Amino acid sequence: MSAPLGFAVIGAGRIGALHARHLAGAVEGATLTLVADVDESAARAAAVAGAASVTDVADALAHPRVDAVVIASPTSAHAEQLREAARAGKAIFCEKPVADDLDQTVAAMDVVERAGVPFQIGFNRRFDPAYEALAHAVHHGELGKVELFRSQSTDPRPAPEAYIASSAGFFRDSVIHDLDTARFVAGEVERVTALGRVLVDPVYERYGDVDTSVITLEFASGALGVLMNSRRTVYGHDLRVEVHGERGKLVAEDERATKVWRYDARGFHGDFYDHFLDRFRDAYRRELQAFVDAVLAGRPPTPGASDAIESLRLADAATLSLHEGRKVAVSEVGARGSAHPGENASTRLGNGGLG
Ligand SMILES: NC(=O)c1ccc[n+]([C@@H]2O[C@H](COP(=O)([O-])OP(=O)(O)OC[C@H]3O[C@@H](n4cnc5c(N)ncnc54)[C@H](O)[C@@H]3O)[C@@H](O)[C@H]2O)c1
Repeated sequence: MSAPLGFAVIGAGRIGALHARHLAGAVEGATLTLVADVDESAARAAAVAGAASVTDVADALAHPRVDAVVIASPTSAHAEQLREAARAGKAIFCEKPVADDLDQTVAAMDVVERAGVPFQIGFNRRFDPAYEALAHAVHHGELGKVELFRSQSTDPRPAPEAYIASSAGFFRDSVIHDLDTARFVAGEVERVTALGRVLVDPVYERYGDVDTSVITLEFASGALGVLMNSRRTVYGHDLRVEVHGERGKLVAEDERATKVWRYDARGFHGDFYDHFLDRFRDAYRRELQAFVDAVLAGRPPTPGASDAIESLRLADAATLSLHEGRKVAVSEVGARGSAHPGENASTRLGNGGLG
């Protein structure tokens, strides 16, 4: 049996602290060596099970028992930390998105590929048992030809303002999960059309962002899709995926935090998940397990660099559609040095500019 992979978790906020807990005992073949965060108390609090804590990423990368990193710092810090970790020869699991824009994403993925280190992007929904089973059924032809795809994701409430300010906007930060699910389940997308509004909290206007959106997708296969997203659902975190094909349909929805139904004079009620960290807890653990299994077996982890790039490309195409009020061909959205041309100055969007 090979020695466990020693991990450094970089960024110990909402998601980093959860990854650290999983690596400290719930992921076979992994051990949590240390946690790095610019905030010393956050690093210390997340450094469970005897792990060390540091405030400097360079110290984390120089540690002799760090073989792999989980990058869970704010999105704006990912690209630089990816480059440093790749140069240090570490296996890299990076939270989505890799960067705020496609140019930086492609450049960072280039460095990773040239360094030849394993890389996985944190599209956790691919590891949710329901999403995984649905995609597996589609890929194995259960539905025959896929004709329609639908994904809905809504958060219970808006994120804190500080998070909004450093996120790359609704499409790149949150809807990117639905865009990646669309690609994962139904294949590549050729054209997108996006509508967006600020209906929940005016704070989003301050950042040129939206909090409510509908995006339509035209898949390369000819299938059509729709994504519905909101930063607010008063009854909790709500996620639904539906795929309709020539032989029927597959639906993953109505997840409940417990199996209890409560009956009273007003009807019957179930318990909801209040937060994505609860709804996807198992998926967050399973994605790390898949990463560790792949690294230890010498297989390329998945989803990898091309998924990081292509799902962000869709988010950029949706952003461009929103800005310009028109249907956008995904091939219009290029990045310097990208394999996809479509180089066009108007497609290089600023950070979070969704307004
Ligand atoms: N896959 C998912 O479902 C999912 C869910 C939440 C967040 N995320 C992604 O994870 C990342 C972090 O999100 P979060 O919600 O945990 O944020 P957060 O604000 O809760 O935590 C970020 C942490 O990083 C620390 N930090 C700031 N700059 C740093 C730096 N340069 N180096 C090291 N640490 C630094 C902060 O002190 C903080 O503790 C974002 O990229 C976000 O998009 C993904």
